[in-house]
Amino acid sequence: MTMTELAMKDACELLDADHIAVKHLFVEYARQAMAAPKEQGDRPVLAQRICQELTVHAQIEEEIFYPALRGAIGADDLLDEAVAEHQQAKDLIARIQGLQAADPTMDDLVSELARVIEHHVKEEREDLFTKARASSVDLVALGERLKARQEELMGQPA
Ligand SMILES: [Fe+2]
Ligand SMILES: [Fe+2]
Repeated sequence: MTMTELAMKDACELLDADHIAVKHLFVEYARQAMAAPKEQGDRPVLAQRICQELTVHAQIEEEIFYPALRGAIGADDLLDEAVAEHQQAKDLIARIQGLQAADPTMDDLVSELARVIEHHVKEEREDLFTKARASSVDLVALGERLKARQEELMGQPA
C-alpha cells in the first residue's frame, strides 16, 4: 500500500471513524452522568454535539452511501432497515434538541439514543460494510464524495 492509499480513507473507513468518534462522546456523557448525576456539567453540550454529528452522519449516508449500495449489494432490505433505524434515531435527536439544558430526562434519552446507535452501527459494520467491500462499488471514490459533503454540512452555521 502506498502512502497516498494509506492516507485516504475509503467510504467504510470514513463512516466507521465517525462511529468511533460518536461512541467516545456517548462514553464521556455516561461517565459524567455516573460521576455527578446531580450536576449537568458538560452533558448538555455533549448531547448537542452527539446530535449534530449523528445528524450529519445519517444525512451523508442517506444522500450518498446508501443510494450507491442500492441495487449493487443485493440487500435493499438491509438498506430499508437502516433508513428506518435512522428515523428512530432522528426522533430521539429531535426530542433531545427540544429539551431545556436542565431537563432531567436528558440522561435517559441520550442512553436510549446510544442503544439505538450501537445496534445500528453493529449492523452497518458486520453486514452492510462487509457486503459493500465484497461488491464492485468504488469505495475510495465514494469516500471522497462523503468527505466533501460532510465538510460542507459541518461548515454550515448551526
Ligand atoms: Fe453509520
Ligand atoms: Fe447509518
